Amino acid sequence: MLALVGGVSARNSLARTPPMGWMSWEIFRCDINCKVDPENCIGEHMYKGQADALKAGGFVAAGYTGIHLDDCWEEKKPPRDPTTGRLHPNATRFPSGLKALGDYMHENGATFGLYTAESPSTCGGYPASSNNEVLDAKTFAEWGVDYLKVDGCGPASYYKGGYKAMGAALEASGRDIVYSCSWPAYINGENETLQPFGEFINDGCNLWRNYRDIQCNWNSLSGIIDHWGDFGEALVPAAGPGHWHDMDMLLIGAISQGRDGGQAGKRCVTLEEEKTQMAIWAISASPLIMGNDLRHIADDSKAILLNEQAIAVSQDPLGQMGRRRSPSKTDSQQLWSRNLANGDVAVALYNKGLGQDPGASSSTDITITFADVNLFGSVSVYDIWSQSKIGNFSGSFTAKAVPHHGSAFLRLTGTKPRQQH
Ligand code: GLA
Repeated sequence: MLALVGGVSARNSLARTPPMGWMSWEIFRCDINCKVDPENCIGEHMYKGQADALKAGGFVAAGYTGIHLDDCWEEKKPPRDPTTGRLHPNATRFPSGLKALGDYMHENGATFGLYTAESPSTCGGYPASSNNEVLDAKTFAEWGVDYLKVDGCGPASYYKGGYKAMGAALEASGRDIVYSCSWPAYINGENETLQPFGEFINDGCNLWRNYRDIQCNWNSLSGIIDHWGDFGEALVPAAGPGHWHDMDMLLIGAISQGRDGGQAGKRCVTLEEEKTQMAIWAISASPLIMGNDLRHIADDSKAILLNEQAIAVSQDPLGQMGRRRSPSKTDSQQLWSRNLANGDVAVALYNKGLGQDPGASSSTDITITFADVNLFGSVSVYDIWSQSKIGNFSGSFTAKAVPHHGSAFLRLTGTKPRQQH
C-alpha cells in the first residue's frame, strides 16, 4: 500500500493540509420549510448568515475557510433547467442563484463548498450528477465552487466509473475544486482493509468519507473514534497531503435542532467530549468541518475550535496521519499520537471509561511512557488545552484527573541531543 500510494501524487496541489470549514448537514439537515423556519431553512439567507459569522467569529482567520452547502439545495421539478440541462437551485430558497452566493462567500474571505452525488439522485432524493459529470463540473466551476462533496446513494455499480469521470471533469473544468468522494462509505461494508484507496487518489479524490454519518450524540462520535482506532494500520498509509480520510463533521458547539439524533435545544456532546473530538480529529489528520450553528455558539466551544495549538496539529505540514496506539477500543484509557514535522509528537490521552466499570464515569490519571512514541531522554511537555508548558520529564508523564470521556492533549518535544558521528 505504501509503495502504491507513494507512487501516485494527488491530482493537483489542493488540500495539502486537511480542509477546514463549516457544513450545514449536521444541524440543518434538509429543513426546507422557509415559511415556518426562515432562519434555519436550507437557503441563501441561512448560508449568508453562516458566512458572516464565520468571518466575524474569527474562524476564517483561524483557517476555517469553507462554507459548505450540503443536500437539498437543488430544484426538484424540473430536476434540470429545461433550456441548459444544468442542475439548478430551488428558486424560492436561493432567489439570487448560486453564483451570487459563491461571490458573497468569496467577498467574506470564505470558500464555497457544494454537494452533489454520483447517482441519479442525492441521499435526500434531490437531482444529482450521474452521467452529467462534464456539464455539472463546468457549471460548478462557473458558480465559483471551491470544494465539491460528492455523495453516493445510488447503484454501487456506477461508482467506479462515476467518481473517476467526475474527477476528470473537475480537472478539466478550469477551476481548482477540492474533490471530496463519499465512495468508500458505500462499498466494502465497514472493512477499511478492503478499500482501494490508491484508486481514489488516482481518480483525483482529495478526501473521502469513510464509515457512518456522524449524529448528534456521544454514541455516534465514540463509535467513529473506535472505528478509526481499529483500522489505523489500514488507514494511515493512504493519508497525506492532497488525500485525506474524512471522519465527518465536528459536533463542537453544535446544539441540536431535533433532526440529527440529538435532543432539541441540547448540546450534542459534553464540553469534554468536544475536546476529545478536536484532539482525535487533529491527530487523525481528518478535515475539521464544523457542524454547528456559527450564529449561536458558546464561548467554551469556540475556544476549542479556535485553539491555535490544536489547529497546528491538524494542519501540520508533514501531513502524517496519527492513530491509536492502544491495542483495543475496549481500553478504558487510550493513547493516540501523531508525528509532527519538527520532530515533536502530538498526543491525546483519552479517558474513554467503560460502561461496566464501577469507575466508568470518573476522571482518571493517565500516564504516557515516552518510549511508546519514540521519544527518549528529557521530554518537554506542552498542554494544548491551557496553551502552556508543563515542564520537562524523563521516561513518562502522568496527566492528572483527565475527565470522563475527555482527553489530555499534549505536544511533546524531545530534548535529547542527537549523537554526532
Ligand atoms: C449522506 C451523507 C451525509 C449527507 C446526507 C445528505 O447520508 O453521508 O453526510 O450529505 O447524505 O442527504
